[in-house]
Amino acid sequence: MELKIKPWRIETTDGSLETKDFRESIFCQANGYMGMRGYAPEDRKVNNYSRAAFLAGFYEYIRPGITDMVNQPDVSSTTLLANGIDISALPKEGFKQVLNMRDGTLYRCYTAEDTQGRKTHVAVTRFLSMARRHVAAFRFEVTSVNHAGTITIETGIDSAVENLPISDNQLNENTETSRLWGEPEVHTGGLYMETVVSKRGVAAEYRVIGNKSAVLNHGETAVLDKIVAIYSFRDEGDPRSMAIQAADTAATFGFDALLAENAEAWDALWNTADIEVDADEALQGAIRYNVFSLIQTAPHNDPHASIGARGLSHGRYKGCTFWDTEIFMLPFYLFTNPATAKNLLLYRYHTMQDAIESASRFSLTGARYSWMASDTGFEQCETWDTGCCEIHITADIAYAFGRYIEVTGDEDFFAQHAAEVYIQTARYWASRFTYDAADDRYNLLFVKGPDEYCGVTNNNLYTVKMAAHNLQLAISAMERMGQGFLNVTDEEINRWREIASKAVVRYDADTCLYHQDDVFHLLEPINPADYKDDNTPLYHRISFDRLQRYQVLKQADVLMLMALFPKNFTDAQKQAAWSHYEPKTLHDSTLSFGAHALMAATLGIAGKAEDYFYKSCFLDLKNVMANTAHEGIHTAALGITWQALIFGFAGLWADGDGLHCDPKLPQWIRGMRFRVFHKGRPCQIRIKHGEEAQINQHIGT
Ligand code: BGC
Repeated sequence: MELKIKPWRIETTDGSLETKDFRESIFCQANGYMGMRGYAPEDRKVNNYSRAAFLAGFYEYIRPGITDMVNQPDVSSTTLLANGIDISALPKEGFKQVLNMRDGTLYRCYTAEDTQGRKTHVAVTRFLSMARRHVAAFRFEVTSVNHAGTITIETGIDSAVENLPISDNQLNENTETSRLWGEPEVHTGGLYMETVVSKRGVAAEYRVIGNKSAVLNHGETAVLDKIVAIYSFRDEGDPRSMAIQAADTAATFGFDALLAENAEAWDALWNTADIEVDADEALQGAIRYNVFSLIQTAPHNDPHASIGARGLSHGRYKGCTFWDTEIFMLPFYLFTNPATAKNLLLYRYHTMQDAIESASRFSLTGARYSWMASDTGFEQCETWDTGCCEIHITADIAYAFGRYIEVTGDEDFFAQHAAEVYIQTARYWASRFTYDAADDRYNLLFVKGPDEYCGVTNNNLYTVKMAAHNLQLAISAMERMGQGFLNVTDEEINRWREIASKAVVRYDADTCLYHQDDVFHLLEPINPADYKDDNTPLYHRISFDRLQRYQVLKQADVLMLMALFPKNFTDAQKQAAWSHYEPKTLHDSTLSFGAHALMAATLGIAGKAEDYFYKSCFLDLKNVMANTAHEGIHTAALGITWQALIFGFAGLWADGDGLHCDPKLPQWIRGMRFRVFHKGRPCQIRIKHGEEAQINQHIGT
């Protein structure tokens, strides 16, 4: 399905059934507190799970120890009747759907015609308020085009919702739904329900402004506004009374005033996050769609929730948080909205006790963060090799804390939170490396790197280097925190130092090549082009098991490491890694294109940079991997697209010395203008071909 991508809007005139799931992903809306797929309120549901809506951080157990993000009551549920006939069942023409990225409103309209030729025009506008995160608003405008008759708008809340838990393994399709909710307590204008296992409650209220039933003449329009408020057990206080109060207040305010304050809140967010490019308008629109989706998906005000791999747009991966947040998305928030970045890190701080308990369950010490986490920090990944071995997540989290402090200079956060995270995670690494006395070195055995097609391997370079960096952060933290902090002994610090310096790294000085791990060179070489002729993942055609023994990568691994430490590797080393690994990479993860765009931009490989950037930037809008409809929006790809543009093409880098910009602008972007925060100050950056980058460090907000 072709979307029209305008600088501030995403549009379609395709209202067909075949593209419905795709539309519902692309046009999903969220405000960080809640998210709702882009379904039509007045459509009849075909099952109890696909009209999905979520609240950030709201999970429930679906089996012992394993949670799923809970599908919430459908507060949009509406029936439109024209002369007693349900409009959703009638043929439609003139369909149009528009997402306005400036203020997050979704508008949809069409004309329905009954068997007697009576035409009714329907327009629905909806938004989830960025100004009042508990409030959503809908406006229904129904016009009798060529007849005089009755229009009835019946609206309420549908509590008959279920989850369709999705297996972590992409190849296992689950068809068994789970009803996680108990019986609702319903009253006029609202309901309260609790989940069965943990008694987690949600209260939803709605108020209607306008007439539910109207007799219209030719050309007349009936307007009905529905204002909704939602609170849950995660909010402080009684969700029932808070929802009632919020709905009453918002309804008194009215749709138009709510819309105006929502637009103002969006303006403030765009003010620091927008990227203006002097380029093709579809590219400008797609870049904004990436930024827009990152803005809507973050639980900005909540230090106890993070972002799932599909945000609030889909229940894939049970709504869990991966390294996607810290490594792929966090830089965007760090540079455009540091308060949000801080909250995302606080989520990790607040789940550290679970990570400490997890380490002990793995017979280790310190804090072991889980590959997949929800409201619990205990491992949610049910694929054993990944869940047990993809341990780089712990070092990724420490790295993100480090970057936050480096870029913001937030010393309080360092002393109150980060230092503790560094120490506990360093303790984990100290217990996770294996000493090899014969060679006097430390091996990192039984691990899986970012390249998930490497089997369970030894000494994955990415993991080793990230772990060493994590140990280094702890050593430096101890220099600043002083003796006695968390009972760290000198012996412990010496051990961290020793592991960091003696960890096995395989590097060939003659060729400048870093080896991915101990065995990559032993794997069977293949030519990826003989197996793959489109962008869909190869695991659909070749078994996962077989892929582990081919010399191919699922996604960036050594190159990802180089992207995280651009100053620690020479151009020759980056070039050698590119020449060796890029041709062997299948990009079977949506995280891969953007990482390659970033590295290609850095290395000045123009054609590749363009190709990878477009794939990443349009990943969902153009359904590049053919999985947007059934999986939702790929949030890590949004984040790495931003990084490819800002760190790659704009060449921005921030470290202890300050903010630097060494642009590598491609021909297809004539100029760029954007803002970033550095050390708490907003800075404006302008780049043009043939001119030096301008960094204006003292602008007002
Ligand atoms: C990728 C991981 C990623 C996960 C969630 C997997 O396919 O290989 O790197 O964290 O998806 O996005």
